[in-house]
Amino acid sequence: MMKVRIERIVDEALDIRSFRLVRSDGQPLDSYEPGAHVDLTGPTGVTRQYSLCSPPQDRRAYLVAVKKEAQSRGGSLALHEQVEEGMELEMGAPRNLFRLDPTATEHVLFAAGIGVTPLLSMAYRLAESGQPYRLHYFARSPEYAAFSKLLADTFADRVQFHYGVEPGDMDAALTESLSQAGSAAHVYTCGPAPFMNKVVEVAARSRSDDFIHLEHFQADPATNAGPVGAFEVELASSGVVLHVPADASLVDVLQAHGCDIDTECREGICGTCIVEVLDGLPEHRDNCLSNKEKAGNKQICACVSRALSARLVLDL
Ligand code: FES
Repeated sequence: MMKVRIERIVDEALDIRSFRLVRSDGQPLDSYEPGAHVDLTGPTGVTRQYSLCSPPQDRRAYLVAVKKEAQSRGGSLALHEQVEEGMELEMGAPRNLFRLDPTATEHVLFAAGIGVTPLLSMAYRLAESGQPYRLHYFARSPEYAAFSKLLADTFADRVQFHYGVEPGDMDAALTESLSQAGSAAHVYTCGPAPFMNKVVEVAARSRSDDFIHLEHFQADPATNAGPVGAFEVELASSGVVLHVPADASLVDVLQAHGCDIDTECREGICGTCIVEVLDGLPEHRDNCLSNKEKAGNKQICACVSRALSARLVLDL
């Protein structure tokens, strides 16, 4: 973690503020790949992950945008109500689970609400590199659309705003938007879980999973539902076998036995706790591994996921 200073705060939309962050020691920041996020610790000591939405090649400052959540547990609310320009925050290095596919020849970005943030950094990169792309931004109304003036001014002919689309009309709107792109275009989406689920459903009609990329801001309760059972984990380096009872998470058991595993969100969305699986069948309950990664069963999100087999062998 490093100290950063809030250089500027801007109201970007109703309940969405952007924060321009510079290093407190005046040094340039690391460059990052579009889609990356950082851990940011606010004045209440709560750490949350926020996507970087500035031009990725600009090392003078990072821009993050924060939506004030009604159910805030101290993260977004504190950043809206307890900080001001000039204050310092703690920030981690950029990490990325949501990259532009380097093999893609065309890209379609579907954003809803605050989900526009990682897609904005992707749009900067795609515009800079001259690759074909289009950004579709869905919001309740113009007042709820963050960065709308920036998007309209900077990416004018590449951005299409969709305001007030009713849930029953979403399928048709997404289908029509996707029909403007070639069948080999890769699809990227970020926003509320029902929106992303619909994007994935529509996109999957015309392309395989490999062409569909998404990032969750919040855990989708549907992926972490259902009964949980006990299982065993074997630590490959020592052969030690640990029992994971039904009322404990895998990461808690591992940490209690001295395994060095970092956690941040503990909700299966940030990817900090991912562990390599050498044998056994994980029961994936996270929202950060891709469908392809989940199908490969070589990784597990230790904070929320469990096991379908009686034992997992972990690369620990
Ligand atoms: S701690 Fe964030 S995914 Fe496990």
